[in-house]
Amino acid sequence: MMDLSVTIAGVRFPSCVMNAAGALCVTREELVALGRSRAGAIVTKSMTLEPRQGNPEPRYKSFPGGSINSMGLPNLGYQAYAQLIPELRTFQKPVIASVAGFSEEDFVTIASAINACRPDLIEVNLSCPNIPGKPQIGYDAEASERLLKRVRKVVSVPMGVKLPPYFDPAHHEHMARMLGRVEVDFLSLINSVGNGLVVDSETETVVIKPKGGFGGLGGTLIKPVALANVRAFWKLFEGRLPIIGTGGVVSGADVFEHLLCGASAVQVGTVLVEEGLGVFERLETELGALLRQKGYPSPEACRGKLKEL
Ligand code: SIN
Repeated sequence: MMDLSVTIAGVRFPSCVMNAAGALCVTREELVALGRSRAGAIVTKSMTLEPRQGNPEPRYKSFPGGSINSMGLPNLGYQAYAQLIPELRTFQKPVIASVAGFSEEDFVTIASAINACRPDLIEVNLSCPNIPGKPQIGYDAEASERLLKRVRKVVSVPMGVKLPPYFDPAHHEHMARMLGRVEVDFLSLINSVGNGLVVDSETETVVIKPKGGFGGLGGTLIKPVALANVRAFWKLFEGRLPIIGTGGVVSGADVFEHLLCGASAVQVGTVLVEEGLGVFERLETELGALLRQKGYPSPEACRGKLKEL
């Protein structure tokens, strides 16, 4: 088996494929299972100040080509994750704590307490599309900058930011300038494509209950959007800011495409929920075979090598 380890912000990952925040990572049992699996890291569910049940069910549905969700940040609350981090650190892989909140104050309080527990990295989630009445912070560059500057001051472990997809080069450029001023250590791109709508024509209904059926899209259908965002930020930072690519990874070839666009590693959401923990071994086997066939000795050897016409 090829060595698929990578280094991001000075932290070594035994494999370049890990779970995406949100996918099978809410409870202690799920997090420990990720620790025992072939996942390259343990990424926690985005944590909030208080424990949350999340939005009413049904709130996740897969369909041919992808999934729609409006989970509403169900999680144990940051204090429970703070207690779990020492146990999660005993597995031979990095722990990434995903931090969310409903105000700048929340983010600062949580990030500061979680940083004290020494996760290997912190991912600041500025892109949850599913809280009624709360727009995604990542679509407001000024609010994002204010928040990240405050969080940066209390975080000493490598700190990254999970962004929503952008659809215009002007937005990529504006966000990249902002991120350069904040000094983040890595980017996670992208969160779900927010506020899609899936319709069941037979029953003439929406397929999830929250927000009138609107929810975040994941899976195969968002891969081109994810790849475009990885590529755009890779180019804007001239390859100097590590990127974890998320969106549409179902096969080893999808991982390879993310690497070519500039990702150092990938996260899997929809396919992990649909297939379970065995997906990590399958993706590693497929990626290893593809890299060998193409003559690349490691994931790092093909990073960013996408050719333009
Ligand atoms: C959710 O819990 O609603 C998903 C979180 C996210 O997309 O950031």
